[in-house]
Amino acid sequence: MEQNAKNVAVIYSSKHGTTEKVAKQVAQFLSMNATLINLKEVKQPNLASFDCIVIGGSIYAGKVQPKVAEFCTRYMETLLQKKVVLYLCAMNHKEYDIELRNAYPEALRNHAVAASVVGGEFLFEKMNFIERFLVRKISGVNSSISKLDDEKIEALAKAVME
Ligand SMILES: Cc1cc2nc3c(=O)[nH]c(=O)nc-3n(C[C@H](O)[C@H](O)[C@H](O)COP(=O)(O)O)c2cc1C
Repeated sequence: MEQNAKNVAVIYSSKHGTTEKVAKQVAQFLSMNATLINLKEVKQPNLASFDCIVIGGSIYAGKVQPKVAEFCTRYMETLLQKKVVLYLCAMNHKEYDIELRNAYPEALRNHAVAASVVGGEFLFEKMNFIERFLVRKISGVNSSISKLDDEKIEALAKAVME
């Protein structure tokens, strides 16, 4: 089959908006158009027209959002036939490696051309009461902060284009 310009989809789920923000940043860094697909809005995306899939999720209580885990499981066979780039948003730096390992199935991680945790944000204005309480208690943080790593985000886009 002839493959012309690469068709890229950035498929993500985001609770407070940070993974979505990163999806848009990756798309901006790309020199080609990318289709953004929010798994909250599109339950079963059709991947047929894409040859590269970027998957983004975020970590809550050590786990990736269920929508992202379900997407990877359901589409595994298709994903293994395409170029794949994986990322996560998370704030517990010490746990990044293990969070990445647990978030995406081994076969997908091994197949991916790049996989990284790009940092994250605590957005207190978007949190509910319990989330605010938990973040204060566990991380000691009391107000909104952003710890996104722009270099890592750009590296994801470069991996797509290589
Ligand atoms: C209630 C709560 C629990 C969290 N638990 C973790 C965690 O276990 N490990 C971690 O690295 N980050 C954790 N985070 C940080 C999130 O992954 C971070 O805020 C991320 O940017 C959220 O992205 P999203 O808005 O796209 O969902 C937590 C954040 C909140 C609000």
